[in-house]
Amino acid sequence: MRKKIIAGNWKMNLTGAAATDLIEAIKREVADVDKVEVVVCPPFTELKAAAAACAGSNVMLGAQNVHWESAGAFTGEISAAMLQAAGVKYVIIGHSERRQYFGETDETVNKRLKAALAAGLIPIVCVGETLEERDAGRMEDVVVRQTKTGLADIGAELSKVVIAYEPVWAIGTGRTATPAQAQEVHALIRRTLAEMSDGDVANGIQIQYGGSMKPDNAKELLSQPDIDGGLIGGAALKAESFAAIVKAGV
Ligand code: 13P
Repeated sequence: MRKKIIAGNWKMNLTGAAATDLIEAIKREVADVDKVEVVVCPPFTELKAAAAACAGSNVMLGAQNVHWESAGAFTGEISAAMLQAAGVKYVIIGHSERRQYFGETDETVNKRLKAALAAGLIPIVCVGETLEERDAGRMEDVVVRQTKTGLADIGAELSKVVIAYEPVWAIGTGRTATPAQAQEVHALIRRTLAEMSDGDVANGIQIQYGGSMKPDNAKELLSQPDIDGGLIGGAALKAESFAAIVKAGV
């Protein structure tokens, strides 16, 4: 039985009291929730304060990116050890905004993934096709390639990875994938994972859906057999809507 995992990807939003107040409010709202893993992923600059705010609660801390080297002359980058020292448990890797705007590739995703795993962080690896790719009938090719290449050569560690299926056309657009569309791709990802390992491992891996998930569509999406949670953007910036999505997963 896979535990559902709802993670808030704050992207480049919130500082100072706005960040810690949001965590405090989420803590109050989800204090009784134990069936769903709750994660917040603030920007790097807020991680230490966020770790203090999350301490001792059922709200876990995640980061939005990680570099593959452990230290050195990589101006502007953050290592897995740094995230660990800041109290981080999860890290998002290969978000489509990083692929789109910052030159992220399946190969760099794979390097980041290995560094995260080596440091004991739980990676949330994002995959998903653009509208152009879907319209050209290439959704399957793209998602299978991103899954196989991004998650290559990690052996038994595959069981520790969380995957987020985020169709690029559904991110921040208000246009959600239908539950049936999302389920189809989640099942495809799970079949791909089974080819890469075996059925038992694939059945244990949590696959989140991301892309305009909101309180009013969360329940139906989360009730699909292969949808094990959500990676939430806009709706994660308000405690009320984020908590409502968490509760839809209970
Ligand atoms: P929205 O929920 O704002 O569509 O963003 C989804 C996302 O990109 C989460 O990583």
